[in-house]
Amino acid sequence: MLSDLNPDGILFVGDLSDGDLRIAKAISKIPIPTSVILGNHDRGHDGSGDILRAQIDLLGEKNCSWNLCKWKLNELSVVGARPCSAGGGFFLAPEVREVYGEVSLDESVLRIVSAAKLAPLAIPLLILAHSGPVGLGSESSSLCGRDWKLPSMDWGDKDLGIAIDRIRKFRIPELVVFGHTHHQLRIGGNRTRKTFTRDIWGTSYLNAACVPRRGIDSAGENLCHFSWVEFSSGKLTHASHRWFRNDSSIAYEEMLFNQ
Ligand SMILES: [Fe+2]
Repeated sequence: MLSDLNPDGILFVGDLSDGDLRIAKAISKIPIPTSVILGNHDRGHDGSGDILRAQIDLLGEKNCSWNLCKWKLNELSVVGARPCSAGGGFFLAPEVREVYGEVSLDESVLRIVSAAKLAPLAIPLLILAHSGPVGLGSESSSLCGRDWKLPSMDWGDKDLGIAIDRIRKFRIPELVVFGHTHHQLRIGGNRTRKTFTRDIWGTSYLNAACVPRRGIDSAGENLCHFSWVEFSSGKLTHASHRWFRNDSSIAYEEMLFNQ
C-alpha cells in the first residue's frame, strides 16, 4: 500500500511491536524516506537493552532518536525526541539507560534542542516523538491526556515541552507528531480524544495513535489508517486521518486542518 500511496516521507511514531525484530527489518527496507521514533513497547523488557539495540541497528539512519534525521528530503527537517517514552513527565526505562546511558531531563532537552539547531532555517521543522509534550491539556481527552486512570491529567513529556519552548527562541517548529496516547479513551464510555491542535505561535500538534491501525468497517471493508500531512511553501497546509481500502483508495477521511 505504501508504494501505491507513494508519500514523500513516512513517519513511525513508535510502539511498532513488543520487540519483534521482523518489524524493524521490514521498516528498514522501505525505499521511501522514513523516520522512526521507538515507543515504550519497543524497549524489549529484557533489562539488558539487547532487543532495543538490535532494533536500532536494523533501523540504522531511519531511527531519529535525539537526532536530526538524515533522510534525503530537502523540503522538511525531522528531529527525533527521546526514544521509548511512556509519557508522564520524564522517565528512562532500564533498557534505554543500557543503550543510551544515564540521560538526565536536562540532557534530553539539550539533545533535542541541539538537533533542531542543526536543521536548516529555510525548510520547515517537524519534531517526531513517541509521547507528545506537556502543555496540551489535562483532560483525559486532551492530546496527551491520561485516560486509563483517574484523575485525568496531562501525561505529556516534560523534556519535550521544555525543548519546544527553547527551540521557539530561534525558530517555530511547524509540526510535532507523536503517538502513545490512543485515540480511543479507556475510561468514560465510547469517546475519542482530540488529535490535533495549533498553539498561539503557529506550531501544530498531531496525535497519530489510532489503535488498532487496521480494522473492518460495518460494510466488511478492510481498512488501514494513516495520519496524513501536506506542506506547501514551508507551511503545513493539510492534516487528516485517512482510512484506506486495500486498493489504496480513501474510504474515510477526518479533516483536522486544511489551509
Ligand atoms: Fe506507547
